Amino acid sequence: MIETHFAHRRTQLLDMMEEGVAIITSAPTQTRSNDTEYPYRQNSDFYYLCGFNEDNAILVLIKTAESTKSILFVEAYNAEHALWNGDRLGVEGSRERFNVDEVYDVATYTDMVQELLREHINLYIDLYSEDSRLNEAKRSAQSLHSTRGIKRHIRAIRDVTFLIRKLRLIKSPEEIETIKKAIALTAEAHHQAMRVCKSGMKEYQLQAAMNYVFLHSGASAEAYGSIVAGGNNANTLHYIDNRDELTDGELVLIDAACEWELYASDITRTFPVNGKFTDTQCEVYNAVLDVQLRVIDAIKPGVKRDWLQHYSEELLCDALINLGILSGEREALMDAKEHKKYAPHGIGHWMGLDVHDPCPYVDEAGESLAFVPGMVMTIEPGLYFRADDESVPECYRGIGIRIEDDILIIEEGCENLSSIIAKSVEEIERCCNQL
Ligand code: GLY
Ligand code: MN
Ligand code: MN
Repeated sequence: MIETHFAHRRTQLLDMMEEGVAIITSAPTQTRSNDTEYPYRQNSDFYYLCGFNEDNAILVLIKTAESTKSILFVEAYNAEHALWNGDRLGVEGSRERFNVDEVYDVATYTDMVQELLREHINLYIDLYSEDSRLNEAKRSAQSLHSTRGIKRHIRAIRDVTFLIRKLRLIKSPEEIETIKKAIALTAEAHHQAMRVCKSGMKEYQLQAAMNYVFLHSGASAEAYGSIVAGGNNANTLHYIDNRDELTDGELVLIDAACEWELYASDITRTFPVNGKFTDTQCEVYNAVLDVQLRVIDAIKPGVKRDWLQHYSEELLCDALINLGILSGEREALMDAKEHKKYAPHGIGHWMGLDVHDPCPYVDEAGESLAFVPGMVMTIEPGLYFRADDESVPECYRGIGIRIEDDILIIEEGCENLSSIIAKSVEEIERCCNQL
């Protein structure tokens, strides 16, 4: 991503704003334990608007009737910090690198923001953030409000994240290229997992094989906590323990993917530990695959996400009837939410700078959004039959299957960005037996 892309996004946001000031803050560092920290991950909204990847930074956008301005506040160069943690870009470096109108030392933020708030009536911030610098701005706005003789003061504090996330919903060609890069590495990692998997291995060893591919290629290891779930563990939707042994004759569900330049991928494949599906596994696998292919087939501009959710539930309910797990009329079963027991999660979610991109799902009237080109959504149907669930025939117990791809909406319909990853029974078995 180059500087002009970030500048364009700032202009788009300013266009959406009424006169006022927007303050967007960097993510805080996160303590892991005592005095050690997690690797730094920037606030996606902040990164989206300026591409700056250090902590303790603040972006301020100002809009008046006559003009707009963007100001970046950054940590000044600090020799002590440079010794322990490396150089920061500093004020001068940031001025050279970033195409914002002004760059200042973050130490001047408090005074400057107080001055700014005297001149505007709208303050745009993340309303739900506990960030101390936003609280400071709110306090300043409050104190100005009760000061006599002030000509103008903030009369509305508005949510800036809603505007930013509306923009984030439609990916630019550069964003799509970045997501494709993340997916290409994730594809390599899933294929590697299929190739090296054998019974007796630990789930974490498969995770390690994938993380090797990610890190070796220069990606951040994981876009989210990897799920490597052998056998019945697949029926725990957010299983991230990954400590169990993989057993001959069972399936392993891997929901794991890397992040590239802060853009996520999100892929699930389920395959046999020993490289060969049993007839029963194959039957359930193909039922899920059929649902996934049909849902993807239905995606095109104009289709509403709510409709897609309903359609996928109908297909999953039919699959459960065909497997003999549910019996009766589809409509009555769905009204009673019988299918939800075995297919409890949604069909997919927006994906981008966050794996679950927090972009809106409904318009301002509360209506489900219709797809338009540039949106990226995961499609991830699954069926889950717990080992101790006596409501399903014994042969299905302990099987959990999810298949997940990342889908881009295009003018002509949609493009499966992860279609290169082995998915049919034949492709998977070929890959599993390919060392
Ligand atoms: N990997 C998380 C999800 O599929 O939503
Ligand atoms: Mn997902
Ligand atoms: Mn996933």
